[in-house]
Amino acid sequence: MLERHCILVGMPGVGKTTIGRRLANRLGTDFVDLDAVIETEIGCPIRTYFEHQGEAAFRDIEARLLERALAAEPPCVLSTGGGAVLRAGNRQAMHQLGTVMYLRSSPEHLARRLRNDTKRPLLQVDDPLKKLKELYAERDPLYREAAHYVVETQRGSVATVVGHIAMQLDLMGA
Ligand code: S3P
Repeated sequence: MLERHCILVGMPGVGKTTIGRRLANRLGTDFVDLDAVIETEIGCPIRTYFEHQGEAAFRDIEARLLERALAAEPPCVLSTGGGAVLRAGNRQAMHQLGTVMYLRSSPEHLARRLRNDTKRPLLQVDDPLKKLKELYAERDPLYREAAHYVVETQRGSVATVVGHIAMQLDLMGA
């Protein structure tokens, strides 16, 4: 049983959803994917919403639904979109109300994982690696600020990373 929400943050494509689902299964808790909650609320894919309403409108909805997810009981595993840390209020709320795990990986590794991606609006550009490097430079400090713990994901399998997080939660009494 979790004492607080376990919140996964990190760059697009790092595996927050896959790892989050497996972690919740292992802990016997619910799993909530904030991007899926947002898509249910807006009634269309995030990419379509970005194209029509713009990023700022998306960030407003993301902040509102994050707040709602953090207020919900019982504690669950919550995976967030890669940009959820951009607003200071989101970072503070996640840090205060949950145990935040930063799943870290290099831009090069992410670019390989995302080479066929068509869903992520920010990566539909000529040079996705360049974009990932820019996003990483901007966001790595923000993920670290929000997080209680940094998990290196690059070398381990999903099972290894899940085991590592579960052990860390146990050590933290979270
Ligand atoms: C975003 C990442 C996406 C999604 C939206 C914006 C970002 O989530 O929330 O497209 O700003 O990095 P993933 O991290 O699951 O790709």
